[in-house]
Amino acid sequence: MSSIDYSEKIPNNVNLGEDRTLKRALEQWQPNFLGWWGDMGPDGSQNFDVYLRTAISVDPQGWAQFGHVKMPDYRWGIFLNPAEQDRKIHFGDHKGEAAWQDVPGEYRANLRRIIVTQGDTEPASVEQQRHLGLTCPSQYDLRNLFQVNVEEGRHLWAMVYLLHKYFGRDGREEAEALLERNSGDADNPRILEAFNEKTPDWLSFFMFTYFTDRDGKFQLCALAESSFDPLARTTKFMLTEEAHHMFVGESGVSRVIQRTCAAMNELKTDDPAKLRAAGVIDLPTLQRYLNFHFSVTIDLFGADESSNAATFYSTGLKGRYEEGKRNDDHLLKGQTYGVLHVVGGQLVEKQVPMLNALNEVLRDDYIKDSVAGVGRWNKVIEKAGIPFQLKTPHKAFHRNIGSLAGVKVAPDGRVVNEVEWNARVAEWLPSAEDRAFVSSLMGRVVEPGKFANWIAPPVMGINRQPVDFDYVRFN
Ligand SMILES: [Fe+2]
Ligand SMILES: [Fe+2]
Repeated sequence: MSSIDYSEKIPNNVNLGEDRTLKRALEQWQPNFLGWWGDMGPDGSQNFDVYLRTAISVDPQGWAQFGHVKMPDYRWGIFLNPAEQDRKIHFGDHKGEAAWQDVPGEYRANLRRIIVTQGDTEPASVEQQRHLGLTCPSQYDLRNLFQVNVEEGRHLWAMVYLLHKYFGRDGREEAEALLERNSGDADNPRILEAFNEKTPDWLSFFMFTYFTDRDGKFQLCALAESSFDPLARTTKFMLTEEAHHMFVGESGVSRVIQRTCAAMNELKTDDPAKLRAAGVIDLPTLQRYLNFHFSVTIDLFGADESSNAATFYSTGLKGRYEEGKRNDDHLLKGQTYGVLHVVGGQLVEKQVPMLNALNEVLRDDYIKDSVAGVGRWNKVIEKAGIPFQLKTPHKAFHRNIGSLAGVKVAPDGRVVNEVEWNARVAEWLPSAEDRAFVSSLMGRVVEPGKFANWIAPPVMGINRQPVDFDYVRFN
């Protein structure tokens, strides 16, 4: 493990200088990345000096440094966590063998697919969020948006490094294709559906960073268990950055709730129309946004029964969440797991081979984790003395993948018919009116220390700076 060399064009701790061919290939990709950033990255931001965190080390104490930088000059680098001495494969058919430092030929296609699928999500979210800077509720929030964006850019670098280093010519082609697909593009969309949805307003952004970046966390955690050691080490470092993205989402939604509850108490009303007239987002609308982002995100885990999931696990490519902390045989043969099906108009749990249900296992771990933050949001409502609770919808609600795709299920888990669905969908998912209302609140606030009316200020600034710090200098 070398320390990070910042004199290099591409900061890295992977001894890039010693591999001329790889270095040249990445230096050829770099201008294409910057071209993509200019075209598809944060709209109109090229000249801003933004108070950003940049990774400078993989030491858990002090891995980042803060300072004002222009985003196109951000030092997107390649960082791997330190190698674990004699690391052994700890699940699947190769359990007990040495972890792979190179890609085994027989798993090349599957590993490439896993890396490309993960890599594709990183630039996708930057594209989804590219216009949000124009309607930021404060400088503090604008800075957080840009922080998330530059780090998603670095996550793309992390995956592109693996493609270039370990997958030869097809890896280089895949790296180019990662810059060619675009979120929501009719002809060449991003691979996964949630990454083709729009992120049109800041409420969507906060829900996205809470729910969808958390999907990122779970995918990265599963890949951090991989037998392919460079993938495990790369994703471990990415997780360090990911935590802030989920913080942005959790605290963002929490501040929206706080502001709404304050208005409810001031005006002594829970009438959405009155609250909307006062310029805050009523709690039922927040619930509908939550329903949407939760359901779209849990689809990302894939079909509930999947032979690919079984193969990825058994061949050691992708583990379970916290694989190393589980006390079972890490082979899972002959074990079963419950997945939901609709039988005679009812949701019924059916036991299937666990190996085939590993997408569902990861989805259920994700759900447990995301419910915890919703509980913290409810504490904010409770503290304001308001009898209302946000809930994550039933996992069969509004699903578009696996055996539940297309089945009409209410947020409480009741299977409903088409008529009831159509009559009530506007109570359950954001309607065009909801979206138009939320969008009507989005106006740009950039004076230091000022916040849009629909959101409360944060308790603390970034990196112990005051809340009214000049996080973004517009020049
Ligand atoms: Fe990411
Ligand atoms: Fe993220």
